[in-house]
Amino acid sequence: MESQKKREGFSSGLAVFFATLSSAVGLGNIWKFPYLIGSNGGGAFLLLYLVCILFVGLPIMISEFYIGRKTRKNVIGAITELKGSTGWKSIGVLGIFAAYLILFFYSSVAGWVYSYVFKALKGDFKAVNADTVKIVFSNTTIGPMPPILWQIVVIAVVSIIIILGVEKGIERVTKTLMPLLFALIIICDIRAITLPGASDGFKFLFNVDFSKLTKDAVLVALGLSFFKLSLGMGTMVTYSSYFTEDNNLIKTSFKVALSDTLVSLLAGIAIFPAVFSFGMQPEAGPGLLFMTIPLVFSQIPFGSFLLVAFFLLSSIAATTAMMSMLEVPIAYYTEEKGITRKKAVIINAIIIGVVGILATLSADSHSLFGNIKVFGKGFFDLFDYISSNILMPLGGLLIALFVGYKNSKRDVQLQLSNKGILNNVAIINIYYFILRYITPLLLLIIFLSSTGIVKF
Ligand code: PFF
Repeated sequence: MESQKKREGFSSGLAVFFATLSSAVGLGNIWKFPYLIGSNGGGAFLLLYLVCILFVGLPIMISEFYIGRKTRKNVIGAITELKGSTGWKSIGVLGIFAAYLILFFYSSVAGWVYSYVFKALKGDFKAVNADTVKIVFSNTTIGPMPPILWQIVVIAVVSIIIILGVEKGIERVTKTLMPLLFALIIICDIRAITLPGASDGFKFLFNVDFSKLTKDAVLVALGLSFFKLSLGMGTMVTYSSYFTEDNNLIKTSFKVALSDTLVSLLAGIAIFPAVFSFGMQPEAGPGLLFMTIPLVFSQIPFGSFLLVAFFLLSSIAATTAMMSMLEVPIAYYTEEKGITRKKAVIINAIIIGVVGILATLSADSHSLFGNIKVFGKGFFDLFDYISSNILMPLGGLLIALFVGYKNSKRDVQLQLSNKGILNNVAIINIYYFILRYITPLLLLIIFLSSTGIVKF
């Protein structure tokens, strides 16, 4: 059985940081974060998001790191080892289910991004304006065949890297490409802030106006913080099971959360000035990125090159984030069921490819399944809503309760202080207090009120 061989892992602290960050940074930063800010009223939503990161996201990330590195197992194996009875094991089962739901629609959006790389290479955006970018976007998403084929390409690329394994696949790919992504976003920012009318975009992004916040926005901000930091579904448990023994888990969680938020903000700064400058609607929804970035780069020196580079690196961000989602079920099947890595990846890729078509063909109301509604939503939106707004926060709540109440404080302290080597008692105590009392309470209140179970 694979698990009896020497277990794979990341080789250094830097590799740990980049791999974890590469899970957090993805389409969430470049695609979801900007359009959710846009459709939920800007700065006030941003503030709400930061509160969610501080009181919910970070404590849960640290808890997942604790579970993963202490047990060095996949999510279900880890909970079982920490004496989680059958009930607690549901954290792992829900997590794997959430990973599938996200993979179904995420692979579809990643397919659009891949196809934009080729469109940019072909020069399809050379003479675009605010109207023609919309047409290019609809042609990309409606299908049926092109988006399905691109989705298959995405799934194939992710699968190959995951078959290569943790060090040769995940580590090598993420360590090389993350710094490049960062540099490219900064170049986009420089271009965006020099556009005429850019200041309106800044005002929109950073103006705090609480009157614009709807009750739904609270749940959306919470869901976004989970989605952004890849939490509540065992991804961070799985990745931290590959961490080095001397890694400072609390420091890594802060570094990852901070860098991830920074990348999201930089993406927002690249996008909103352009939205306003070209007279587009900040509420445009999922198409925002695809309709603004080609405009940002049109008609500037090296614009076509930058456009190719931007979508290439966005596709890398999407790919590395998907790798971390897929690793959740793969680690489970290889370690608990004894299936070889290659076989597990191939079976999962087929499942994701087949069910993922439902998401792809329902992304636009003009798509083949665009009119089919389940619980009032198309498949694409339904997969997104159930995973981000229900399963991930629920998984997060269970993880907070499991680590806060079912594990001994001493075990948690030992793991987070690297058996007493780190001098971080105070910060562990703060974390532990927030985890036990604030995180679950906040999660419960937000969850109950926004699902309408309890009215405040
Ligand atoms: N954090 C990723 C993003 O923001 O795009 C999405 C994601 C990755 C969610 C991995 C969940 C996950 F397990």
